[in-house]
Amino acid sequence: MLPRMNHTPAEPWNGGLTNDLSRILLTEAEIQARTHELGRQLAADYAGKDPLLVGILSGSFLFIADLVRAMNLQLGIDFMAVSSYGDRTTSSGVVRILKDLNSSIAGRDVVLVEDIVDSGLTLDYLVHNLRTRQPASLRVCALLDKKDARQRAVELAYVGFPCPNEFVVGYGLDYGGRYRNLPFIGVLRPEVYRKEE
Ligand code: IMP
Repeated sequence: MLPRMNHTPAEPWNGGLTNDLSRILLTEAEIQARTHELGRQLAADYAGKDPLLVGILSGSFLFIADLVRAMNLQLGIDFMAVSSYGDRTTSSGVVRILKDLNSSIAGRDVVLVEDIVDSGLTLDYLVHNLRTRQPASLRVCALLDKKDARQRAVELAYVGFPCPNEFVVGYGLDYGGRYRNLPFIGVLRPEVYRKEE
């Protein structure tokens, strides 16, 4: 049983994948409430502007899906995929674009949507890269902010939650491509990744 007893997930999430977690950090209800709040805030801030939300794949796919469904205004959605960790749990610092945007962002109000900012290396690279394409504005919206792990200062205009310096999975976040489908976010037991190192 997970330590946060009042956050023990209901069926079908009791047991199974959940056994690999040491505790639940954020419940589905907490994530949904905060995401809707952020969506409404973004909608107010970008009223009349037709912003372009750029999701960073694959980790942000659930977050951006919920975020835009809380935004009642005209907007565009695009995605980029970058390489980050592979199967490891610490950043390599080497960022490679695996999938670029489908269209130009020149003159657009762009909101980069990230699942988690850890060392900040990925975001630092992306922000510099996208700025060279002359958007009208560029801001970052991150679900989780792992501040204590930061190696590069990056400005986060919108943050869902602070995150402890532990490896978390669920709600889009993965370890080795797994656990993305959990509707909540939990801390992965270190023995799960240590045994594969
Ligand atoms: P950064 O470059 O170190 O800031 O890492 C950014 C990317 O690494 C995120 O978009 C995630 O894909 C991944 N990442 C960082 N920390 C975690 C974590 O705790 N769980 C899962 N993925 C993470």
